[in-house]
Amino acid sequence: MPSFHIEPYAPDLHQARSFRSGVSAVDTWLRSAKRALQAKTSAVFVLIDLDEPGPRRRVLGYFALAASSCEVNELPGDSAEGLPAFPVPCFLITWLGLDRTLQGQGLGDALLGKAVAKCLHAREHVAAVLVVVDSLGDEATAWYQRRGFRAFARTPRRLFARMEDLAERSPAPGASSPPA
Ligand SMILES: CC(C)(COP(=O)(O)OP(=O)(O)OC[C@H]1O[C@@H](n2cnc3c(N)ncnc32)[C@H](O)[C@@H]1OP(=O)(O)O)[C@@H](O)C(=O)NCCC(=O)NCCS
Repeated sequence: MPSFHIEPYAPDLHQARSFRSGVSAVDTWLRSAKRALQAKTSAVFVLIDLDEPGPRRRVLGYFALAASSCEVNELPGDSAEGLPAFPVPCFLITWLGLDRTLQGQGLGDALLGKAVAKCLHAREHVAAVLVVVDSLGDEATAWYQRRGFRAFARTPRRLFARMEDLAERSPAPGASSPPA
């Protein structure tokens, strides 16, 4: 039984080269994540198996987070209720992926749960109204929608959830609890 664990990405401690999610943009971005860390454009967290021998454990999954803002008039229906007419602050899950060998066991839920938990924690110090994700295909879009995310009116592959709704469902939007 693997000892899954999510921790901040450190290129010296984690090996990203062999990561394959099945979506090449997700895999390619991870290999350039070092630059994003250096430029501080994304915070990156990786799923590893603590039972794997070191010194550089394989990345089995990851997500990346950044601060952003959203136009309220792009939110569908009643989602903009109570929000001002100018752009509102949000957290962006810029990338999220799991190695193909581990998909379909609830670990994607665990990654998303941890990403949302980090956004909720950050909101205690920095205001944000939404968590936004960019899905890269119909399958991923449906996967996020089953977890309560809704599409923006004009950009159906950009999805959002209101932080107050996520907080109600905290700690995780899915059934599984995130690894430590
Ligand atoms: C999107 C992605 C992260 C989902 O990860 P995943 O681990 O396969 O997702 P989960 O296992 O959490 O959920 C998949 C299904 O397995 C089911 N599942 C959960 N636990 C399970 C278990 N123990 N055994 C079998 N199935 C299980 C879930 O119910 C879920 O079905 P649902 O979506 O109908 O609810 C993954 O497919 C991926 O990395 N895709 C490529 C990259 C990508 O598209 N990223 C998103 C855009 S950046």
